Amino acid sequence: MAGTGVFADILDGEVYKYYADGEWRASGSGKSVAIVNPTTRQTQYRVQACTQEEVNKVMEGAKVAQKAWARTPLWKRAELLHKAAAILKEHKAPIAECLVKEIAKPAKDAVTEVVRSGDLVSYTAEEGVRILGEGKLLVSDSFPGNERNKYCLSSKVPLGIVLAIPPFNYPVNLAVSKIGPALIAGNALVLKPPTQCLLCNQGAVAALHMVHCFHLAGFPKGLISCVTGKGSEIGDFLTMHPGVNCISFTGGDTGIAISKKAGMVPLQMELGGKDACIVLEDADLDLVAANIVKGGFSYSGQRCTAVKVVLIMETVADTVVEKVNAKLAKLKVGPPEDNCDITPVVTESSANFIEGLVMDAKEKGATFCQEYRREGNLIWPLLLDHVRPDMRIAWEEPFGPVLPVIRINSVEEGIHHCNASNFGLQGCVFTRDINKAIMISDAMESGTVQINSAPARGPDHFPFQGLKDSGIGSQGITNSINMMTKVKSTVINLPSPSYTMG
Ligand code: G3H
Repeated sequence: MAGTGVFADILDGEVYKYYADGEWRASGSGKSVAIVNPTTRQTQYRVQACTQEEVNKVMEGAKVAQKAWARTPLWKRAELLHKAAAILKEHKAPIAECLVKEIAKPAKDAVTEVVRSGDLVSYTAEEGVRILGEGKLLVSDSFPGNERNKYCLSSKVPLGIVLAIPPFNYPVNLAVSKIGPALIAGNALVLKPPTQCLLCNQGAVAALHMVHCFHLAGFPKGLISCVTGKGSEIGDFLTMHPGVNCISFTGGDTGIAISKKAGMVPLQMELGGKDACIVLEDADLDLVAANIVKGGFSYSGQRCTAVKVVLIMETVADTVVEKVNAKLAKLKVGPPEDNCDITPVVTESSANFIEGLVMDAKEKGATFCQEYRREGNLIWPLLLDHVRPDMRIAWEEPFGPVLPVIRINSVEEGIHHCNASNFGLQGCVFTRDINKAIMISDAMESGTVQINSAPARGPDHFPFQGLKDSGIGSQGITNSINMMTKVKSTVINLPSPSYTMG
């Protein structure tokens, strides 16, 4: 159970502690932040409201710890990561329990998130050993005017302190996707668990349990820290902190604000999407319907890679809409504890936002394939047909179980709509013609295009990146490790040119 057994240390009465200098602490602020259960809409947990002074202390400790960690052999770093991965998987049940109660993730998906996270950490350890064990040797005579009298040895070195801010929908998996690469590359890591709004920290308690698994694995004190609190108090303070050498953020628009305020540090940002699903006349329509439901409605549409607009050729639209409606009717709607397919969305303000998009579409004449139904944060799955570009839902991401269908008369029309979005995370195209699929993929301004499947980030070693407002940089295990390092060169200058086997 959460907060008990090996996790008893992380709880102080009713309030979860924060993690600094290798120990669990209560904040000197004496204040805490409530985490509201999306299903019951009652306070489920409380976390510490850390102060700026405590953040400063964390940064000081991280700086010292990082220097020693950078001198720790790569194989030892990997060994500790493997250990943490095993502990994480061993304790999947209490961590999954937090995910169910904090973010209403269906119980079986919550367990999957933790297991996937353990696998991600192990893979990161192995990949790090491989790619960080290699460097480059350059010789000078390839550049005009030079003899071979300079040898340049370059290798990858850590950046320093990485600040990781994951989103509420994957508070464990998208935290370890930052923690693993940062640590294997020799960095220290400061985690600021998700902040869904200024006062709520949905996902923070699951993240604290996950951090405890790293603590149990025996990482040096100060190397990993986790601070919780109000965005208004420590949000900007952290992201603009002079001690931070890299920021990896996944979330919404806040990322745009962070990128404007952050100093001269490398940024890795994933900020949402309006993933388009383009359906051609020759597509396998059963496959299309299955992927629209899976892509648009799993975890109630609260995935940045969810299908967020269907752009379908008019000639096959009726058939696909009918097939999708039949599948939607079978989805189980209710609490995450019962493993329902559609569970309450994360906050009341999210539900209100989704409702605003639905009402706008209603006023402007969209066809409701189901009756709009909401109880508290729970919104029943809804397909909106005949959506037009003047409706907000054609462009904005609901992050909920509501999906617009726009009927198109040409592929060009679909590509035009996709590319007119300010987002460009992923997209998908359904057709049996691989040549057309490639042409459309090339034309779509998205970081990834899936052919004949719904958008998805995984497997976790694949590159994952967004264009335009969807992000900066590329993720995926290998790219994240590389991003959290910089190249260091040493040049050997010979007194006279020397040619190998010359
Ligand atoms: O919500 C954003 C995540 O990166 C999506 O990940 O495709 O595994 O659901 P996923």
